[in-house]
Amino acid sequence: MRFSASSAALCAALLPGASATIYYAGVAQSSGEFGVWSATSTKGTGLPGRFGVEYQFISTSGVDVMTDQHKVNLHRVAFLLERMCPLSYGLGAKFNETHFDHFKQAIDYITKTKGAYAILDPHNYMRYNDPSSQPFSGSVIGNTSDPTAATTAQFGAFWGELASRFASNEKVIFGLMNEPHDMPSALLLANLQAAIDAIRAAGAPNLIIAPGNAWSGGHYWTKGGAEANSNWIHKLVDPAGNTAIDIHEYLDEDFSGGHTACTQDPAANLAGVTAWLREHKLKAFITEFGGSNTTACTTMLNGILDYMAQNEEYIGWTAWAAGPFWGPNSPCCTDQKQFGSLEPGSKAAGGGPSLYDTVWVPVMQKKVPAKLQWGGLASVKGGELREKP
Ligand SMILES: *[C@@H]1O[C@H](CO)[C@@H](O)[C@H](O)[C@H]1NC(C)=O
Ligand SMILES: *[C@@H]1O[C@H](CO)[C@@H](O)[C@H](O)[C@H]1NC(C)=O
Ligand SMILES: *[C@@H]1O[C@H](CO)[C@@H](O)[C@H](O)[C@H]1NC(C)=O
Repeated sequence: MRFSASSAALCAALLPGASATIYYAGVAQSSGEFGVWSATSTKGTGLPGRFGVEYQFISTSGVDVMTDQHKVNLHRVAFLLERMCPLSYGLGAKFNETHFDHFKQAIDYITKTKGAYAILDPHNYMRYNDPSSQPFSGSVIGNTSDPTAATTAQFGAFWGELASRFASNEKVIFGLMNEPHDMPSALLLANLQAAIDAIRAAGAPNLIIAPGNAWSGGHYWTKGGAEANSNWIHKLVDPAGNTAIDIHEYLDEDFSGGHTACTQDPAANLAGVTAWLREHKLKAFITEFGGSNTTACTTMLNGILDYMAQNEEYIGWTAWAAGPFWGPNSPCCTDQKQFGSLEPGSKAAGGGPSLYDTVWVPVMQKKVPAKLQWGGLASVKGGELREKP
């Protein structure tokens, strides 16, 4: 429901907390998944990879600028399952402890040193065993017709272990999976439920965010007939009642985030998923969206940020993407042109202003609410709002 200004004020007066509120806002930190691409799809390329050379989770200086100057309270940190659980171990509860330590240092820096919230983001498209041609390579987790595929139970065991390691950190949010696609929605539901069950069995009360099929696309949530996310994802059961929905939404013609031109009106395209969220009393994060530095993208980025701020189903967002290893490359929305990233200090090829300068600072950053949650358990209910301490 969209409130008019006066009815929103009335509701806020009668029912504290009932008006639309963004509790968590920030950026994706993408670089932990880097270094595995192979033009010839050679399996194992870049594994385990050299930390600090081929991949890295965050730059502390970048997180400092985002958190201290731009007052964001949320960073979504990408990592690869094949690095956390090497192929020789298989997906599950046995981790590469050296790799885990690097990851934990990044999460602790964000949550403990800076006091912000962090989403753990396995950037694996619900696939495991071959990231060499992500997002399409690797066996779909839980595919019982594929003897090389990790099982649903292994996915649960992985999340149970990861959750137990962060269960005492209330600022850690569990993003179950980045952009599942091209798989049966029933299998997606089974995998997500296995993860939720394992997380709660591990005693972790943390906020979980559950993705949809079809790349988690908000515009497509109610589409696809029987396979539509709107027929499945609300069936998830969380005994702790602390699971929100993880939506992605780009603004270009095919919703891929590949193109410079913004042509897809976010309010119109999100109407279906928003109605579904409302019907099932669910809250959501949009953890990927973005746009280039065109006038149309400025309008539509303001549009999607305002839409989230005005619709109570949305409680958080992270823009795609900052991260220390982009260099002049762009995370989205430039037709492959090198306009840099949202990483503070990044530059376009040739040294011109980056998307940080042209999109983050003048557009997105202005929509970071002055008051966000800075303490307590991340929750579908949000928490106490205050200015950055
Ligand atoms: C574990 O990670 C470290 C650091 O990246 C790496 O040197 C080592 O080879 C990895 N071990 C396995 C089994 O992948
Ligand atoms: C599952 O594995 C079979 C056998 O490799 C394959 O034909 C099928 O496409 C896979 N299903 C998915 C959803 O990837
Ligand atoms: C966007 O930024 C790039 C890199 O700085 C620049 O070359 C380009 O002219 C900008 N585009 C617009 C529409 O301002």
